[in-house]
Amino acid sequence: MSIGVFDSGVGGLTVHRALVERFPQADFVYLADQANAPYGGRPGEEIVELTKAGCIRLFDAGASLVVLACNTASAIALRRLQQTWLPGYRRETGRSLNVLGIIVPTIEAATGLPWEHEADRRDEQVQKVDILGVFSTPGTANSRVFEIEIDKRKQDLAVFSEPCPNLARLIEQDASRDVLRTEVEGHVKVLKSRVGRHPDRAVLGCTHYEIIADLFRDALPDGTPLIHQPGATADALARYFERHPEYIAGAGGERRFLTTGTPGEQNGLVATFWGAPLRFEAA
Ligand code: DGL
Repeated sequence: MSIGVFDSGVGGLTVHRALVERFPQADFVYLADQANAPYGGRPGEEIVELTKAGCIRLFDAGASLVVLACNTASAIALRRLQQTWLPGYRRETGRSLNVLGIIVPTIEAATGLPWEHEADRRDEQVQKVDILGVFSTPGTANSRVFEIEIDKRKQDLAVFSEPCPNLARLIEQDASRDVLRTEVEGHVKVLKSRVGRHPDRAVLGCTHYEIIADLFRDALPDGTPLIHQPGATADALARYFERHPEYIAGAGGERRFLTTGTPGEQNGLVATFWGAPLRFEAA
């Protein structure tokens, strides 16, 4: 039994690494759906089907719990799969299986409030509103999940999502730092002009972007806090394991990396982020 971690590509490694650091004894299997990456500009129904196929592949590889280390899949597919597919699939296979996403932990970290908290809107006078900038894929931005869910919980935090249609693809393709820097600076500038000022804090709401978090730090005003999605996900998983110890998986610290794309070594950006070359096997 292992913990499955899923993304369209290499972005989920940013979350995977935080999970491995938090649960060093657990066995992990990572799946990158690189044959179909990037997900961010795909129609919603395709994202649902691809995410389901990824979960099945990970369950077949021995995972009982899958973490969708992908905002696009979490925003668009997770609820559908939990409600309309997973219960039947559990019955069919006779296994205890679950799928978790990364949007809930991120919103908890951004608001400092537990997910169950909903704001009491009566008589509230909001004196000062902070701006939260969310850089994400078009799929995540169009879902408006961060705007909707944060508005329910915290009225002094206004969310502006900035879709970055090319960024995950450029990271998958090992684009040069100069190309990536220009792209990131462009999005920071567009967000600033849409809001009228820079955000007070920001979420890198696509797991690929964490690989180039330093470029976002450079482009945003000095010291702008970035909500750390991988750390927030590891914290949330630790709380989940307290409630569901049956999903704590393995004891050997085994790590497998699978791809639906071309197996072999991942690109230079990944090696730099990871600190060593990383080889993927065919899924
Ligand atoms: N890394 C993923 C995310 O967090 C997907 C990026 C993509 O495939 O477009 O949204």
